[in-house]
Amino acid sequence: MPIDPLEKKWLAVALGLIGVFLGAIFLSSVLGIKPPSHVETIDSARLHLSEEFAEDKLGVHIQPDGRIEVVIVAGRYGFYPRHLTLPADTPITFRFASLDVLHGVHLPMTNLSTMIVPGYVAKVTTVFPKPGDYPLLCNEYCGLGHDYMWSKVTVVDKPTWEQQHAREGGPS
Ligand code: CUA
Repeated sequence: MPIDPLEKKWLAVALGLIGVFLGAIFLSSVLGIKPPSHVETIDSARLHLSEEFAEDKLGVHIQPDGRIEVVIVAGRYGFYPRHLTLPADTPITFRFASLDVLHGVHLPMTNLSTMIVPGYVAKVTTVFPKPGDYPLLCNEYCGLGHDYMWSKVTVVDKPTWEQQHAREGGPS
């Protein structure tokens, strides 16, 4: 039975795509291309005793060189601190650790989306394009409260943020 010419075309397209994907896998192995990884381990059961992720150390930190770093703990069912105020148009590095199970974090309208694997520190740098309220959402199913696992990020323009931060004097 002859094959319909249109069907032949689609067969060729499908085989071509398989070829492209196999080629991509082959090239990435030959050239040594790997997804970015930041392998930094941490003891999730002892976060409260750790230098960085203890409860009173969470939130915004300004590094000696002026970079802004935000330290967040994810746990069923929330991100702590629950509310952050951050500047727009500024690179901000987030460091996440889970205190219990696998969580994910997604910040709509930015490139921030990563898993938070217990035992590892997830580090992502992003820039908020404009002021406004942004949700920080969990995007890995982590239990019955998963749908309610989120916290709020308020983004203000940089001069306002700097004023606020100077007034509060230190981590907020
Ligand atoms: Cu945490 Cu879903």
